[in-house]
Amino acid sequence: MFRSRIIGTGSSVPARVLTNKDLETLVDTSNEWIMTRTGIQERHIAADGECTSTFAYRAALNALEMAGTAPEELDMIIVGTISPDMPMPSVACFVQHRLKASRAAAFDLSAGCTGFLYALTVGDSFIRAGMHKKILVIGAETLSRFTDYQDRTTCVLFGDGAGAVVLSAEQGERGILSTHLYADGAYTDYLLISGGGSMTPASHDSIESRQHFIKMDGNKVFKIAVKSLEEAALTALEKNNLTGADINLLISHQANLRIIDAIAKRLNLHPEKVFLNIERYGNTSSASIPIALDEANRQHRMKKNDIILLDAFGAGLTWGAALIRW
Ligand code: ACO
Repeated sequence: MFRSRIIGTGSSVPARVLTNKDLETLVDTSNEWIMTRTGIQERHIAADGECTSTFAYRAALNALEMAGTAPEELDMIIVGTISPDMPMPSVACFVQHRLKASRAAAFDLSAGCTGFLYALTVGDSFIRAGMHKKILVIGAETLSRFTDYQDRTTCVLFGDGAGAVVLSAEQGERGILSTHLYADGAYTDYLLISGGGSMTPASHDSIESRQHFIKMDGNKVFKIAVKSLEEAALTALEKNNLTGADINLLISHQANLRIIDAIAKRLNLHPEKVFLNIERYGNTSSASIPIALDEANRQHRMKKNDIILLDAFGAGLTWGAALIRW
């Protein structure tokens, strides 16, 4: 039986930094409010000319280099994103071309901030089925292009960047143990960009009514997130006959420090077992878990055979969890 082992990680964020102090000059907010309510201190924002495939490509190069994998070895490239360069073609096809990964099938997948976990699950399924040997899974976003810098309830949250992993088909006990995905479309209204699609194409009216920006009922999303993430994590542990005590590191979607703290508390995890980088990047949606995974990996926070829990929550609403034996 094959398992998917992560043999390389990579990440990339734009150079430009937007601090809480900068945001104080744009909207009625304060560094103190943002820090205490979210844990975010600064976020990276794309420059003119940069877009989602810019960061996806750079993250992919870093991951492939660590994996010692040549682009021609890749069977598939999957990009989790809700902020593609354009409606078509996919970010994955831009990345495939720039990498010269000529053998790889390439497509994007949209599942809000849970996009990376969904993409990881699809990649893992191809490997478990014995169909593919090497798959590049990327989470990449340029949410600053869809952020309303007149709306203080959302503009303080989001940042840009990408993370990537190379999955390799391997025998043995190490690798992705299981993934668990969920969705509830009853809550589409809680978090959305309503304009620019086939329902409300771009028009003077859609622009004037700011429908091309993210709208979120953060408080409602927060409450559902904590409950759903706990359930997903417990399901993943139970499925593998593990408990919270077996987890060596939690790498959670970095949306809000209070959500991560609540999950860690419910799983009885010591703070040392919780990876955090939200203060420097904010919520980078699909990119947040693979960026965190890459930083944790390069800081040697994971040892061979460690149990790693990933969890994410986002627009849809969607959520999920994955357990990895590193
Ligand atoms: N600065 C100052 N005050 C603010 C700001 C701000 N930036 N934003 C909101 N406030 C005010 C509100 O207006 C409100 O004031 P009022 O009481 O006078 O009406 C007060 O602060 C409290 O607002 P809440 O929305 O209740 O604040 P909350 O504690 O819920 O924090 C937050 C808001 C940070 C958005 C939180 O709800 C959250 O993180 N939600 C979850 C987000 C999430 O996980 N999303 C999923 C992933 S995103 C994706 O898929 C793209």
